[in-house]
Amino acid sequence: MVSAYLNMVQSHRCISTSVACISEDHGMPLKKHEKVGLLDNKKPVKDNIAIPNSQPSENHNHTPLVTALKASAKQNVASFHFPGHNRGRAAPSSISNLIGIQPFLHDLPELPELDNLFSPEGPILDAQEQAAKLFGAAETWFLVGGTTCGIQAAIMATCSPGDTLILPRNAHISAFSSMVLSGVIPKYIIPEYDFDWDIACGVTPSQVENAIKKSENKGRKASAVLITSPTYHGICSNLEEISLLCHSHNIPLIVDEAHGAHLGFHKNLPRSALSQGVDISVQSTHKVLCSLTQSSMLHISGNIVNRERICQCLQTLQSTSPSYLLLASLDAARAQIITVGVWNLGISGFEADDILYESYGVVSELTGTRSITFAINLGTSRDDVLRLVSGLQHLSQTYKLVPLKEERLNDIQSFMETSSGMRLSPREAFFASKRKVTFKESIGNVCGELVCPYPPGIPILIPGEVITEEALGYLVDVKKNGGFVSGAADPSLSSIVICT
Ligand SMILES: Cc1ncc(COP(=O)(O)O)c(C=O)c1O
Repeated sequence: MVSAYLNMVQSHRCISTSVACISEDHGMPLKKHEKVGLLDNKKPVKDNIAIPNSQPSENHNHTPLVTALKASAKQNVASFHFPGHNRGRAAPSSISNLIGIQPFLHDLPELPELDNLFSPEGPILDAQEQAAKLFGAAETWFLVGGTTCGIQAAIMATCSPGDTLILPRNAHISAFSSMVLSGVIPKYIIPEYDFDWDIACGVTPSQVENAIKKSENKGRKASAVLITSPTYHGICSNLEEISLLCHSHNIPLIVDEAHGAHLGFHKNLPRSALSQGVDISVQSTHKVLCSLTQSSMLHISGNIVNRERICQCLQTLQSTSPSYLLLASLDAARAQIITVGVWNLGISGFEADDILYESYGVVSELTGTRSITFAINLGTSRDDVLRLVSGLQHLSQTYKLVPLKEERLNDIQSFMETSSGMRLSPREAFFASKRKVTFKESIGNVCGELVCPYPPGIPILIPGEVITEEALGYLVDVKKNGGFVSGAADPSLSSIVICT
């Protein structure tokens, strides 16, 4: 039987969820390989959240923004304001037939009774304060541009053009766009790597310390450190030690907690970033919690970060027409993510994923060569879990004891040490003129695009860096082993974009 491999839980890192043991005595709802049809509509689940930062008497069901939106939508008014669908009266029928009229009725602009996202004094302020209390922040901002815009704001608020930012090489693409926007110079940490799972892991305090020292030795004090914790696969770094370290150098620590909004809401989960002393945490509330896609939160703590600058950056980056549906949906809930290893079944994660989808109607969040990640949230039903368990049982019964061919890619860390480094800053490379050359011709040129193979999910080519033969060889190896390459204008890699 396939079990969820939790042997990754080590002192310096741990997986972000507790995983229920998959037991044989759960019934199987579907016959093996029975084709599945459309899924039933799910019934809504009850809000049943453990609240770490609160007194028992507090009313957590108080939702000031939802209440204000409801009252505003109920008014019998002749509206002469945007959006043009006029509270649903002019909604295109193709979409209103699909989702109903209610979303349009509540898709209101910044009316006086609904407050203003950039200078909140009413229900938005109230809702953000409630969120800050729940998540243990000094201040919380609601975001309508996802964690992407929160990461960009956090970096722009802590770093100025030419400053150094320490970050893992496999940071989310938003960190790279932040460097273009801010003109920051990166100092990369190559994250630890787990070859059994074929996934990148966390960053250790000693790696951060080394990066800080190396920057200082070059006369460049880092202006901020950015860490992704948990990673997409649920690996958490030791943020407590990393924040102590950063603070001893008076450097703010930003945490990309896109996948960790649920942390701290159950005793078996790792601690949240804020509870470990970080200065800024940005969470995709829409990922593991239950808000609408694109809605996130940025939290600050401590006194290193300049809150006015955060406000200014968010105002620069966000729409002046924020969606109240997104804002009102930022109600917290908790969820879980599990990653299941398949490497000892003799099939790749991609093949296992196809079988789970085709035969059991199970749709995963993320697939790799040797693992599959499933996101479990408050909307996941017992039936969904049983269906997943059935699929995993089928896989383990069908494929067990067939060892996967041991085709290990080069050690990414030693590979990176030999890489020839940055010729242009990310910002200079972004604005440089570019052209496409053949794969082979690109060697020795300055790369003009971000090329990231999965696995390992660590960019091999970053705009501004010199393209080496080894880097291209690495990309070829990844493709040969069933992985794929993202970010390249030409996904077949016949050509590469270079700066001219
Ligand atoms: C680690 C990480 N950070 C940031 C983001 C961006 O989050 P959002 O989709 O909320 O903009 C993602 C999205 O997948 C992510 O995986």
